[in-house]
Amino acid sequence: MNKGIALTGIKPTGTPHIGNYFGAIKPAIELTKEYDARYFIADYHALNSIKDPQKINDLAYEVAATWLACGLDPDKALVYRQSQVPQTFDLSTILLAFTSKGLMNRAHAYKAMVQSNKELNRDPDDGVNMGLFTYPVLMAADILLFDSDVVPVGKDQAQHLEMTIDIAQSINHIYKKDVLKIPKPLIRKSTQTIIGMDGRKMSKSYNNTIPLFLPPKKLRKLIMKIVTNSQTIEEVKDPDKCNVFALYKLFATDEQQEALRKMYLAGGMGWGHAKNELFEVMNELIFPMREKYNKLMENKDYIAKVLDEGSEKAREIASKKIEYVKNILGF
Ligand code: TRP
Repeated sequence: MNKGIALTGIKPTGTPHIGNYFGAIKPAIELTKEYDARYFIADYHALNSIKDPQKINDLAYEVAATWLACGLDPDKALVYRQSQVPQTFDLSTILLAFTSKGLMNRAHAYKAMVQSNKELNRDPDDGVNMGLFTYPVLMAADILLFDSDVVPVGKDQAQHLEMTIDIAQSINHIYKKDVLKIPKPLIRKSTQTIIGMDGRKMSKSYNNTIPLFLPPKKLRKLIMKIVTNSQTIEEVKDPDKCNVFALYKLFATDEQQEALRKMYLAGGMGWGHAKNELFEVMNELIFPMREKYNKLMENKDYIAKVLDEGSEKAREIASKKIEYVKNILGF
C-alpha cells in the first residue's frame, strides 16, 4: 500500500524554541508514522535574509540536529537540504512563467514590508529583494516537485499554500492534464498556540522564546523570569490565567497538573515554587533530547552525511518529476 506524501520545509533562521517543538517538530514527526515524509531545510529561502555563509550553515546544522534529536528518523523520513536539490530551482523558474505579478503583490510578507516602508516614509520596495517577492513561488516548487499530498505548516503559511494550489491548478488547466498534484494544507490550529515568557504567542519576533536546548542552569534562570502577576504567597492563584501553568500543561502528566492546580487554588504557594515545578518537568522531557543534540553537534560529519544521503535520494525523485514536467511543456 502506498502511503501519502507529507512534505514540509524548515527555514533555518533562528535557534529552535519550545514553541517550534510543540507547534511544528513534534506533530511533524508524528506524521511520519502515517505518511512518507519529506522534510527539508529551506536554506535558499533563508538566503533572502541571511547573507553570512558561516551563519547560514551553522543554522542549517542546528536545525537538522534539532529535528534528529527530537526523534526524526532519517531512515523513515527523507531529510535533505533544498540547496542540494537543484531541480527545485528548475521547477521554480518554470512556475514563475505561470504566476501573475498581481498574485505576488498580495503575499502577506511582501505586503507587510511595503506597508512598513510607507509608514516610515521610505520607498515602498526598500529592502525587498526578488527572492522575498517571489518567495511563494519557490515554496510552491518545493511542494509540487515531490507530489506532496499534505503539507503541515503554521497558520502564517496558509496563504503560501493557497498560492501553491493556484499556480498548480492553472498549469493543470492550461495543459488539460494533472501535471502537478494539488496538495492539501494541514494547518495547525490556533488552540495549540504555545505562549511565551510574557504570555503572548511564543515567537522570535516577540523576543519571548524559551530555546529548546538551553543548558539546565540557563533554562532555570529563564523560567524564573516568566512574567507572573504580583500576588503574594498566601493568595489563592488562578492556574488558568497563569503563564507558568500554561507551559506546565505541555510537559506535565495529568496527575502532576492536578497536583499543581490544587496548590494554586489552596493559596500559600509562591511563584518561585510553581516555576521550579515547571523547570523539573521541562528538564525531564528535554534532557535526553538535549544530550542527543549536543552529541550530534559535536559530530557534524554525521549530520552532513544524513543531509547528503537524503539530498541524493531527493534528487533522484525530483529529476523524474522535472523530466515529466519539462516534457509536457515541450522541452
Ligand atoms: N515558508 C516556510 C516557513 O517560513 C518554510 C518553507 C519553505 C516551507 N518551503 C516550504 C514549508 C514548503 C512547507 C512547504 O516556515
